[in-house]
Amino acid sequence: MLGGRAPEYTDLARLTYLGQTIRETLRLRPPAASLFTRQAVEAVRIGPWTLPKGAMVLITPYVMHHDARWFEDPERFDPERFSPERAEHIPRGAYLPFGVGPRVCIGNSFATMEMTLIAAMLLQRFDLRLPPDSAPPRPSLNVTLRPAGGMRLLLVPRRLQSVNTAPTARAAASCPHASH
Ligand code: HEM
Repeated sequence: MLGGRAPEYTDLARLTYLGQTIRETLRLRPPAASLFTRQAVEAVRIGPWTLPKGAMVLITPYVMHHDARWFEDPERFDPERFSPERAEHIPRGAYLPFGVGPRVCIGNSFATMEMTLIAAMLLQRFDLRLPPDSAPPRPSLNVTLRPAGGMRLLLVPRRLQSVNTAPTARAAASCPHASH
């Protein structure tokens, strides 16, 4: 869709498949995987549970995001979950990489914009691959979720023909929405 040029803010709404891919990445590996809490200021009943005043509740997006009740085949990386038709069936509160409700992350839109623009610039120029001898990264919770021991990536330049011309056959094959 960009034909090799740098993306601009106005392109964001049209980078639909990239947006879905980023949402799916934040589902499988939410950076704020746990560690946000709420304290009941008064006794409250939530579904079958009664929380006494002062009770602390730990909210764990990682667990929610890997629950097959809300996300079929939850370990599978599938950006199609966030296609407009399917995303509307995700219950409110089941997907919460940025929290939810009155204290939702105020950097939500900014962080999403940054991720999308940076990914659009990088992925036009490079294929990102694990070095051949590397094991797949293991997630580790250390305030935020991150790859245990860091993660090495190879940036393999894409063929320059993808710049300012039609997408390469490989790029077209890997993206089911190649026209975007
Ligand atoms: C991928 C990036 C980010 C993720 C995953 C993320 C995640 C979150 C989450 C889960 C919360 C809710 C915490 C809670 O409910 O207790 C939160 C709150 C917050 N975030 Fe972010 N955040 C991100 C980027 C940013 C950025 C870029 C900014 C600032 C520009 C920011 C500023 C804030 C602030 C100020 C709050 C507290 C809001 C409040 O309590 O009213 N975040 N974030």
